[in-house]
Amino acid sequence: MAAGPWLLLLCLAAGAVLQARAQPDSKGFISIDCGLSGNTGYVSETTKLSYVTDAGFIDAGTNHDISDEFMTEYVDKLSYTARSFAGAGVRNCYTLRSLVSGNKYLIRATFTYGNYDGLDRPPVFDLYIGVNYWYTLDFRYLTKYYGIDEVMVKEAIVVVPDNFVQVCLVNIGDGTPFISSLELRPLNRTHYPQATVAQGLSLDSRLNFGPMTSDIIRYPDDPYDRIWDPEYAKLIWTEITTTQKVRNLDNDLFGVPSAVLQTAVMPLNASKSVWLLWDSEPTPKHDRDPTPGYIIILHFAELEVLPRNAVRELIVLLDDKPWFTTGFTPGYLYETVAYNTIPFTNNRDHLYMLDVVASGNATLPPYLNAAEVFSVFPTTDLGTDSQDVSAITAIKLKYNVTRNWMGDPCVPQTMAWDRLTCSYTVDSSHPRITSVNLSSSGLNGDISASFTKLKAVTHLDLSNNNLIGSIPDALSQLPSLTLLDLSGNQLSGSIPSGLLKRIREGSLNLRYGSNQDLCSNGNSCQTHSKKNNKLTLYIAVPAVLLVVIVLVTIILIWFLKRKKKGSMDNSITPQNETITSHPTANVEANYGSLRRLESRRFTYKELEKITNNFQQVLGQGGFGYVYNGFLEDGTQVAVKLRSHSSNQGVKEFLAEAEILTRIHHMNLVSMIGYCMDGEYMALVYEYMSEGTLQEHIQGSNRSGACLSWPQRLRIALESAQGLEYLHKGCNPPIIHRDVKATNILLNMKLEARIADFGLSKAFTGNDHHVSTNTLVGTPGYADPEYQATMQPTTKSDVYSFGVVLMELVTGKPAILREPVPVNIIRWARQQLAQGNIEAVVDGRMGGDYDANSVWKVVDMALKCSAYSSMQRPTMTDVVAQLHECIQLEIGHVEDYANTGFYTHGSNNGQNMSYDSYTTDQSSIVSKTTTGYETEQNLRRVTIHPTNQVAR
Ligand SMILES: *[C@@H]1O[C@H](CO)[C@@H](O)[C@H](O)[C@H]1NC(C)=O
Ligand SMILES: *[C@@H]1O[C@H](CO)[C@@H](O)[C@H](O)[C@H]1NC(C)=O
Ligand SMILES: *[C@@H]1O[C@H](CO)[C@@H](O)[C@H](O)[C@H]1NC(C)=O
Ligand SMILES: *[C@@H]1O[C@H](CO)[C@@H](O)[C@H](O)[C@H]1NC(C)=O
Ligand SMILES: *[C@@H]1O[C@H](CO)[C@@H](O)[C@H](O)[C@H]1NC(C)=O
Repeated sequence: MAAGPWLLLLCLAAGAVLQARAQPDSKGFISIDCGLSGNTGYVSETTKLSYVTDAGFIDAGTNHDISDEFMTEYVDKLSYTARSFAGAGVRNCYTLRSLVSGNKYLIRATFTYGNYDGLDRPPVFDLYIGVNYWYTLDFRYLTKYYGIDEVMVKEAIVVVPDNFVQVCLVNIGDGTPFISSLELRPLNRTHYPQATVAQGLSLDSRLNFGPMTSDIIRYPDDPYDRIWDPEYAKLIWTEITTTQKVRNLDNDLFGVPSAVLQTAVMPLNASKSVWLLWDSEPTPKHDRDPTPGYIIILHFAELEVLPRNAVRELIVLLDDKPWFTTGFTPGYLYETVAYNTIPFTNNRDHLYMLDVVASGNATLPPYLNAAEVFSVFPTTDLGTDSQDVSAITAIKLKYNVTRNWMGDPCVPQTMAWDRLTCSYTVDSSHPRITSVNLSSSGLNGDISASFTKLKAVTHLDLSNNNLIGSIPDALSQLPSLTLLDLSGNQLSGSIPSGLLKRIREGSLNLRYGSNQDLCSNGNSCQTHSKKNNKLTLYIAVPAVLLVVIVLVTIILIWFLKRKKKGSMDNSITPQNETITSHPTANVEANYGSLRRLESRRFTYKELEKITNNFQQVLGQGGFGYVYNGFLEDGTQVAVKLRSHSSNQGVKEFLAEAEILTRIHHMNLVSMIGYCMDGEYMALVYEYMSEGTLQEHIQGSNRSGACLSWPQRLRIALESAQGLEYLHKGCNPPIIHRDVKATNILLNMKLEARIADFGLSKAFTGNDHHVSTNTLVGTPGYADPEYQATMQPTTKSDVYSFGVVLMELVTGKPAILREPVPVNIIRWARQQLAQGNIEAVVDGRMGGDYDANSVWKVVDMALKCSAYSSMQRPTMTDVVAQLHECIQLEIGHVEDYANTGFYTHGSNNGQNMSYDSYTTDQSSIVSKTTTGYETEQNLRRVTIHPTNQVAR
C-alpha cells in the first residue's frame, strides 16, 4: 500500500518529463521529426529551428528509415525517418498540447514514402484534425507522377477549440499510414479570417512570384514559418524586384513578409495575364458537400515608381469572368490584398483558371507578387465533452489502457473507444461518455479519482481487476450513476456512506462481491484492516497519526451529530421527495426542454436528420421500427416510424398521436412531436434510456442488474398513476387496452412511463364501455371477461396491470412456458393454494424486502386479475394501496440503515418468515383490504384457484 503514492509520484514525474519535452518552444512552435530514434532532436541547418522526436506526442507506431537510395542531399533530412502504424489501431493521433483555446494555428505534416517498408507499395489513408476529417492522402497518384521519394506536404490553418489539438492518421484499409514530420505554428487570431471555428483552410499552394533565389521562403523571413514556394518567370513573364522594404497595411490580415512581396512577375506582352491554374480535388469524405470550396488570396505591391501619366490598373478574372469587377491600383511599396471570404465552388473535377490582367484604362502590364490557394473543410464536428476527455485520458494513462484508445473517445462514432458508451447529439453539444466497462482489463492500483469526474456516466464496470485501496465516496456524487460493479477486486475498507445512501434510495445498483478485504460485515473487516495498518505504521510518524486520529474523531462526532439532525429533518419531508431528490440539473433541464417542445410537427427530412438517417434501431413494434435520435438542442428522442408495409397501422397511429397531443402526465411517455409528411408517419417521443420494464424483469436490461424491491414498488406505483390518469384524469376516460411490461418504459432514473397508446380507445358513451369488432391486446395480459364479451372497460386495464404486478413480484413472464404454458396469475394462485408461498417471490431479491409490502402487492395483483371485472379494484384504489406498500418498505429500509450496513443478498431480512405470513394471512389481508370491495374476494380466489382465467 505504501508503494502506491511513490509509484504515483514516479509516474507523475515521468509524465512531467515527457510533457516538458512535448511543449511548444519559446515562439510557440512545435517541430517533430517523426520516426527519429533516440531521445534527442537536432537543430535544422536552414531554419535554425529545433526538431524533437515523437516521444510524448504519440504512444503508438514504430520508427523507420526511408530506403537508403533516397537518403541523398536532395532529400530534406526531415524525410529520412518516418513513423509507421503497421499493426497499430485504425486511428493513431499526435497530441499537440499547451495551446491556447480559440487561437489560430498552422499545422503542417509531411510524408515521404521513400519505400521505407520495402514493399514498394505506397498507401492511401485519411488525415483528421481532432475529430474532423481533413484530407485523404493518395500516394499512389503522387508517386506515379513524381517518384517514390516525393515529399507530400499538407498544411491547414485552423482555430483550435481546446488547449490541445490532435492530428490523426486513419487506416482506411488501403495500406499502412505513416508520417515524416509534424509542425505547429501559432498565427495571429486576426489572420486568415476565412479560418473559423466552423471551417478550416487546407493549403493547395502558396506561391512567391519572381523570387530572387531559388530557395523557398520560410522562418525566419516569415515569422509564422509559412513555406512560400518559388514561382519563376516563365518565358512569357518577366520579373520585377526591389530591395526596399514592402509594408503591410495597418489592419493587415495576412502578415505576408516583405521578402515575399519584394518580388513579382508581369507578362512580357502587356495585354496578356499573370495566371494560376489548379485542379479541383474532389473530397469524397466531406459527405455534406463533396465539391470543395476555394479561398484565393492574391498579394500585390507596386515595386516601381511609375512615370507621370502611366496607369497601372488590375482586374482579376476567374474562369474568364470578372472576379473583381472594378480595377484596382496597388500602392507603392504597400501591400494590397485581393481575396474572397465565401468559398466558391464549381464542379468536382474542374480546372480553375485565374488571370490577373490590366484594365482598359491601364497603360502598364499587370503583375502579381504572391498567391495562396486554399480549399475549405468543415470543422463543425464536436469532440467529446472536454472534462470527460481529460478524465478518461487520466484513466487511460493511470492504468496503461491501450486498446484503440487514441484520439477522441467518442468521435467519430465509428472510431469511438472500445469499452466506452457515448451519448451523441445532432450538432448542439459535445458527446458525453455514459458508460465505462473496464471489467477484466488487468487494472492495477487504486480506483482513480478521475472516475468521479465522468459526470454523465450511468454504468461503471471495474469488475475482475486487481484494484486495491478503498472505494472513493465521491463516486456517489456521480449524478447519473445507476450501476457500479466493483466485484472481483482486492478492495478494502467499507462501503462509503454516500454510496449506501444511493443504494437505499434505489438509485444505484452496487456490486462488490469477491473483494476479500472489503468490510461487508463486521468481523472480517477488523482482521484485514489490521494487516493493512501494519504497513502504514512502518512509514508513518506516530505523532502525525495521533493528530490525524484526533481530527478524524472530531470530524466523525461532528458528522454524526449533523447526520442525526439531518435525519430529523428528513422525517418531515415526504419520502417520495427524498427518493427523487438526487437527479442532476442536467437531467432536469432536458426534461424541461422536452415539455416545451411538445407536439411539434416534423418533416420527414427533419426526422432523417434527427435520426442520422434512421441509423440506430431502438426497438421494433407492430407498426415498424423505433429509432434513436437527437433534436437540435441535444435532447435524445425515440422516433417511431410507421413502416410502409403496414397498412393497418394508420388508424392506430392516428389514435396514438391524437391521444398523446391532448394528454400529459409524468407517468405517461410524452410525445415531443409527430410527422405526417406525405406517406410518412412518425411519432417522436422522449427517450427512455433504460428500456422496457420487461427487460428489467427478465434481467436482460442493459446492466444485467436485478431490480430491488423498492425499485419494483416505485415502478408499480408510477405505472399505476399513469393508468389512473388515463381512467380518471381524462375526459372522456381512455382505456389503454394493451397494458404490459413491454409498454412500461423506464428512463435514466428508472422512472416508469406508460407507452404505446396505439390501441387506446376513448369512452364515448356513458355506459363505461365501448364495443369493438376486433379483439386487441397481448396474450397473457388480456382480460378474460373482455375476451368473452368483446367489450373493453377500464377494468380490462386493471386486469392487465394485475399481471404486471405479478411479474414484478415473481420476476417471471406473463406466460410461463415450463412445464406447460400457463398464465402467471393462474400459476401464482396454484402455488399460493398449495402453501408454496416462497416460490412466488423473485428469489433474485435475496429476501431483501419488507414481507408485508410484498404480500400486499401479491394480494393486489390477485384482486386486479379477478375474473369478474366487478370484483377488481379501480386504478385509484391500486394507487392508494401501492402508496401504503411504499410506506411499509421505507420502514424496512430504515431498519437496515440503523444497523449501518446495507447489503444485497445478505441475511438481514431473514427474521421475517414466510410461514408466519401463512398463519397471519387473514390478519394482514384484513389490514390491507381497506378500499377494496370485500374481503371475501381474496379469500375465494386464493383458496380456490379456478380455471376461469385460463379460458
Ligand atoms: C495581431 O495582428 C494585429 C494586427 O496586425 C496586431 O496589432 C497585433 O499586435 C498582432 N498580435 C500578435 C500577438 O501578433
Ligand atoms: C500581345 O497580345 C495580344 C493579344 O493576345 C496580341 O494581339 C499581340 O500581337 C501581342 N503582342 C506581341 C508583341 O506579341
Ligand atoms: C477607366 O477609368 C474611368 C474613369 O477614371 C472609370 O470610370 C472606369 O471605370 C475605368 N475603367 C475600368 C475598366 O476600370
Ligand atoms: C503499457 O502497455 C504496453 C502494451 O500492453 C506495454 O508494452 C507497456 O510496457 C506498458 N507500460 C507500462 C508503464 O506498464
Ligand atoms: C462489461 O463487459 C463484460 C465483457 O465484455 C461483460 O460481460 C459485462 O456484462 C459488461 N458490463 C456491463 C455493465 O455491461
